Amino acid sequence: MDFFMPVALFTGSECISKNQTLFQTYGKRCAIVTSQHAAEKSGALRDVTEALHLENINYCIFHEICQNPSVESCIKAGKMAREEGADFLIGIGGGSAMDATKAAAVFAANPELDEDGFYSRQWQKKPLPVLLVGTTSGTGSEVTKVSVLTDSKHRKHSIKDDRLFAAVSFGDSRYTQNLPLPITLTTGVDVLAHCTESYFSKRADELSRSFAVRGIRLLVEPLLAAAEGASLSPKQREQLYQASIFGGLSINSTSTCFPHNVGYFLTERYGVPHGFACATFLPDLLQYEEEFDPAYAEGFYRELNVGKDALLQLTAKCLPAPSITMTEQEISRLLPRWENNGSVGNTRGTVNCTFIQKILEEKYVRKGEKS
Ligand SMILES: [Fe+2]
Repeated sequence: MDFFMPVALFTGSECISKNQTLFQTYGKRCAIVTSQHAAEKSGALRDVTEALHLENINYCIFHEICQNPSVESCIKAGKMAREEGADFLIGIGGGSAMDATKAAAVFAANPELDEDGFYSRQWQKKPLPVLLVGTTSGTGSEVTKVSVLTDSKHRKHSIKDDRLFAAVSFGDSRYTQNLPLPITLTTGVDVLAHCTESYFSKRADELSRSFAVRGIRLLVEPLLAAAEGASLSPKQREQLYQASIFGGLSINSTSTCFPHNVGYFLTERYGVPHGFACATFLPDLLQYEEEFDPAYAEGFYRELNVGKDALLQLTAKCLPAPSITMTEQEISRLLPRWENNGSVGNTRGTVNCTFIQKILEEKYVRKGEKS
């Protein structure tokens, strides 16, 4: 088993104020990176700024991070941090804000770096230290070395580097208590995708599988309740948050499989939220794995205490009704992006472009509309 996750992680109610002296370790001035509203609405921004005041740390705020953050916005945030003399960055938000903060810390330390240099990881200096505060239960970015950004050609890319790990992450599920239902559902199925894809990754081992299984076992009950319209209790929110951390730990070890990467085009072209986009292809992964290695798939359901049908029903309840149609030609034009793709190649067995083509045609080409 291989395991490397050097983040100091604190979870639970008021975990920021209980550990606020930690902030001083990283300097006297920081840049907070967040989106327009989430940090404020969740209460996380108030708790962070209170802690900074008490520790006599000055701060500036960059609040222009959007969903599926662009590299350009990270360059901007990094520039602001540098010009303000920040010693460290604090990212507050869901996956978008946390991933953007990781990248902004790279740009803050490397003024000459452009988009290509960022993706090729030619970073002369190591990024400024990053502290993260999660406000959704999905990405698991708190504990991963991953940053997913959108490039100047509007393509999403996942970049992985040990230098992208946060120094410290805080996970207080009170910040997720009032999340709107669509966000709860899309982040919830993102966790389901992380755990499931990790389990079926070529790199899965005993430790990563234990994270993946634990994540799904925590997730199923509160996610089903949310999908059926119940308002979630603090305990259920805590379960979802913990599940997202287990999901992050599992993919940090194994990476994701084809559903994550194939899902990117749904987000880029049709604006489908990340979790829904990836979970769209989970039934295909499960079907494929059942044929490829029935005993391994059987072991997955046995460990979960949840059958395949129940898992598929949960996924279907969370996903919005399908509305996308495509032509065979449109699908063909997409296929090169999955040649030699890491997530596709990471799936157990031999998944290739022809396999993905078949899935996309079955899902999106309407009979009688074939080109
Ligand atoms: Fe994800």
